[in-house]
Amino acid sequence: MKEIGLGIAGLGTVAQGVLQILQENGEAIGRRSGFSLAVKRIASRSLKPDVDLLGAVFSDQLQDLVEDPEVDIIVELIGGETAARELIQSALGAGKPVVTANKAVIANYGNQLFASNSRIPLRFEAAVAGAIPIISAIQQGLVANQFEHVVGIINGTCNYILTAMQNDGAQFADALSTAQSLGYAEADPGFDIDGVDAAHKLTILLALAFDTTFDFSALHVEGITAITAEDIRYADELGYKIKHLGIARQTADGLEARVHPALVPKHQLLANVDGVLNAVLVKSDSAGDTLFSGPGAGGAATASAVLADVVATAGELQSLSGEAIPSTARHDGQLKVILPLEQVNTGHYIRIPTRDEPGVFAKVTEALSRHGISIDAAIQKEPGAGQDVVSIVMLTHRVLESKIVAALDEVQALEQVSGPVARIRVENLD
Ligand code: HSE
Repeated sequence: MKEIGLGIAGLGTVAQGVLQILQENGEAIGRRSGFSLAVKRIASRSLKPDVDLLGAVFSDQLQDLVEDPEVDIIVELIGGETAARELIQSALGAGKPVVTANKAVIANYGNQLFASNSRIPLRFEAAVAGAIPIISAIQQGLVANQFEHVVGIINGTCNYILTAMQNDGAQFADALSTAQSLGYAEADPGFDIDGVDAAHKLTILLALAFDTTFDFSALHVEGITAITAEDIRYADELGYKIKHLGIARQTADGLEARVHPALVPKHQLLANVDGVLNAVLVKSDSAGDTLFSGPGAGGAATASAVLADVVATAGELQSLSGEAIPSTARHDGQLKVILPLEQVNTGHYIRIPTRDEPGVFAKVTEALSRHGISIDAAIQKEPGAGQDVVSIVMLTHRVLESKIVAALDEVQALEQVSGPVARIRVENLD
């Protein structure tokens, strides 16, 4: 397996997420990608003694990352603008590829960075919508399309605050401080609540989907600080939720690019993307509507996108060097053993057709209880006029397949049961 040396700039939430994922999933990443990712050097203002650097050398000088011959890819996770931009420029100038999560640098300096460098990879998947692979979706998955609109909830902190105000009646300030303590907010949370962070991200989406330059100043930007609990209540009564949206849309008159709060009908999927989740709805001519949703902030979620870029960059390096590109889908590990169905644990929907006689319900529940099966919900309606058969419908808690099968065999054998017992597994996906 080819080793790729990483140099990480920063030791904050996202950098720590990268280190943790490499520690936990590094071997699996290697198996899938063909690259062994080794962190060679970490540069940050100060060392954090409780963070495991995975054997990397620590520096307090960012430039050391560029100069270290063992560093093949620089991962810029310091945030802010000036120092990050200088590091990226210096790295690209020295021929070192860069992966960054820095939306502000790409939104404000993307044109210069890409104009002065067309050869060395500079990737930024993590800059927009955290874990959601929206950049690669636009650049690769949907490359064959003309885009009609890209509309997204792209600031997790705003979405978290609006959701808490809507669902829990939380005060704005309390919800913001929770988002900060969970590591979602920017160093300056004004960037979140004033819409700047979402605008940085929309600048990037706009440039990629609509072939524009990166032009942050062209966007209309509003935050959520003027939204009140009263607005949220009225919107709710009218059948809407208030969401903070980034909207890029091609109209006959031109391209729209705006960031602001908006009422979204409750039946729309976007209206139901809550908490720190982000979602981006892309409408394009051939693919139609595609919706991408997932965690848009947080260390591990953002680090997941960073590492996807690292693997893609490693592939590009390999290709530039003329060496064979490793397969991205190698299955040379051990096949996992599939659990036999009897050992699967799920809830169940059951429907039992019975004659309407006293004591049947009790007999059914006794049979279930003998097998340790607990009932979550039950319905029995009165029989229709002239009918003596009723359906007993139940939802069970999670139980081993072997137990529900045995219990329902007993239920089926009850003399009052007048037809086949129906059973459908329940997957709550939680
Ligand atoms: N502050 C940002 C957010 C972090 O809340 O979405 C991810 O860019």
